[in-house]
Order: sequence, then structure tokens, then C-alpha cells
Amino acid sequence: MNYRVLRGKTIVLGVSGSIAAYRAADLIRRLQEQESDVHVIMTKNACQFITPLTMQALSQNPVRVDMFDLSSERIGHIETARMADIIVVAPATANIMAKAASGIADDYLSTVLLATKSPVLFCPAMNPAMYSNVATQGNIKILRERGFHVLEPETGPVACGEAGRGRFPAVDRIVFEIASILSEKSLAGVRIMVSAGPTREFFDPVRFISNPSSGKMGYALAEAARLRGANVHLISGPVSLEPPPGVNVYKAVSALEMHEVARNLAPSMDIIIMAAAVGDYRPKKVAPSKIKKKLANVQIELVQNPDILAELGKEKGSQQVLIGFAAETTKLVEHAKEKLRKKNLDLIIANDVTKPGSGFCYDTNQVKILYRDGVVEDVPPMSKLRVADRILDIAGKMLAEKRDESKRN
Ligand code: CTP
Repeated sequence: MNYRVLRGKTIVLGVSGSIAAYRAADLIRRLQEQESDVHVIMTKNACQFITPLTMQALSQNPVRVDMFDLSSERIGHIETARMADIIVVAPATANIMAKAASGIADDYLSTVLLATKSPVLFCPAMNPAMYSNVATQGNIKILRERGFHVLEPETGPVACGEAGRGRFPAVDRIVFEIASILSEKSLAGVRIMVSAGPTREFFDPVRFISNPSSGKMGYALAEAARLRGANVHLISGPVSLEPPPGVNVYKAVSALEMHEVARNLAPSMDIIIMAAAVGDYRPKKVAPSKIKKKLANVQIELVQNPDILAELGKEKGSQQVLIGFAAETTKLVEHAKEKLRKKNLDLIIANDVTKPGSGFCYDTNQVKILYRDGVVEDVPPMSKLRVADRILDIAGKMLAEKRDESKRN
């Protein structure tokens, strides 16, 4: 994923002495892919696990270890603390968290942590017994109460052979968390339902009718909404994507299943975005066992599925924003306009799925955004996360307008 909020940011990465220190090297690369400027501070113990030279070569910035290193360039700990948009301690040992919780400043990293006014994210990684120890848990509680962010480690086998909570999280999760901390919470508390992916309409236990939707656009919307602090409900068709952290996921295979979940959730939502490629038809009958290859021709009778979006449009509340997608192969704007009107939407995102780099399966999208008053906004080709950001900018504005209007009336 490509997070615009990380572009050009100065990230101070503190590495402490856990076996997971080598994973910090991967984190540097991932942050650089996001065009962040990474400055590494290592504790003396971290240098036992991975060399400062590796971190310096990767980050392309001087690595700080020693408080009183006269040979290095003059960027002192106060300056380092000041220049950071965020400080990420990954991996964070029980020891560095204990120091931060008690205000101990006896090396470069702990001193920077005491001196900074920037947000700080700790990513603990340690033996499960050390993690669950009351002292560590007490320190984490103190840190959280003081406004520090502490990412919950993962559960599973750790380097020492034991299993439990204490594993260093996936680097993607850390990058998401950093983006989330730095993002403006423009949709805090707003309840958003997003549907994503294809549906499968089975005609025997092993065969179905479907479409090539990957779910990427819907998942990008869910992720972007979460970054903005929304309370996100993602109804997902069968896709092979990892849901973004902190999102409520409802799995639906068929259009009927998606219909059921959407109907239940919709009344309590502020913004609804149907990005799923819902199958319009389903086989009338589902054979109880696999259809055998005995006949030269087989005919499958299809019946229409409910149009979920059209139904939500009929029941739309006065303070609800309803957004649809239109996947088209011809007459893009004309067809999309018709759907916007017929389904009683506030906005429709029109997608020419025949264009290279647009629509099904791609990471990028080129769309036109159509408003109720006839305005058509041409969005240049960009990543689906950026398209999602643009849609959410508009949706947030529309919601605020509807709320204002209902206050006036
Ligand atoms: N949609 C829906 N339920 C359906 C079919 C579509 O909720 N049974 C939603 C989609 O999620 C999308 C919008 O309606 O937001 C338009 O979907 P699209 O497939 O482009 O259009 P259809 O309404 O199915 O019309 P057609 O297939 O004739 O183009």
C-alpha cells in the first residue's frame, strides 16, 4: 500500500536489543518505499544483533548509538528529538519501555524518548513470559496513559522456542500503524460500511458463476477510512487480501449473503459505499452433487439477485451518504448517470473496466466521479488508496452538509 501521509516525513527509528532487531532493516526499506526519511538510533545491545553499518547503508543517514561520539556529525539528541515527525521503537524491548515509563535517560535512544514532543510508537518484541510479566504490562499501561502508542505484539512461536504473545508484528502492520498515527482523523467516530470483491453464485457444490473483481478498491476504501479514524464495517466477498487492521469484517460469498449482511448493517451507518461487484444473477437451482459430464450441452437457468444498492437507496436516511460504483465497458458517463439517478445515490464512481490500469485486479484506477447535480470530476490514473482518499474527502463533506442541513430544519 502507498500511504500519501508518509511521503517526506522524518521517521526516527529506535532499535533496541531484541533478536527481532534484524526485522528493523526490512522496516527501513518499507518506509523508504513510502518516501519517508529514516534516521536510526540503536542501543548498544541492538548492535549485538545487527550492525550499525547495515542500518546506515539502508537508511542512508548516520546511525546514532553513542551519546558522546565526537566523530559523528553534530546532530545532538535534542535535535533528533525535535526533527522527528514520529519516533518508532521497533523492536522495543521490555527494558527500553521500562526506561521510558520511568523517565530514565542513560543512552541516546532513551534520552531522545525523554526529550521528544513527537508521537512515539513502541513495537514490543520479546519472550512471552517477559511480555506478560506484571512489570512490563504495568509499564505499557503507564506509557499508554501518557499518550505513547504501543502496538500489541503477535501470538505464535518466538525465537527462544516458546510460543505466546511477544512476536514482532508484520512490517506492513507497523507501516499501517505509523500512517494511522500521522493521519488526520477527519472521519473520527463516523460509521462506514464498505462492500468489496466479487460474489460467487454456485450451481453445484464445486462450480460457480463469478467475476474477476479482486476487492482491492473496496479494501483500499476500508483502509483509508480506518486511517481517518472511522468505525469501518467491511463486507467482503471471496478475495485473497488481508483485511486492514482495526476493521470489522463480514464475509459473504453469494449476493444473497451480502444482501443479508448489508441490510442488517445499513440502518446504523453514516456512509455506505458499495464497491463490490455483486452478481446480478444466480442459478435457479443448485445441484446437490457435482454435475457429471454426461450431456453434450447443459443449460443453467438464472434468476435475478436483489439489487442491494438500489434497495439501500430506497431506504436511505436523511443523514446517510450512499455511494455506488459503475463498472462499464461502453457509454461510461451515460450509464453511470442513469445508475446514480435510479438507485438514489449521492455519488457514483464510474469505472471503464476495459482501460489498461483501471478496474478489476489492478492496484491503480482511473475513474470519473459523478455528482447528483450533473458535475463530472475526472480523476487521473492513481493508486486505489489515493482514489479512496478522494472519495472519502467528498463523502465526509457530504455527510457534514447533510448533518448541518438537518440541524437547520
Ligand atoms: N450492485 C448491488 N447489487 C447488485 C448489483 C450491483 O448492490 N445486485 C451495486 C454495485 O456494488 C455497484 C452498483 O450497484 O455499486 C452498480 O453495479 P454495476 O454492476 O455496475 O451495475 P448494475 O446495477 O448491476 O447494472 P448492469 O449490470 O446492468 O450494468
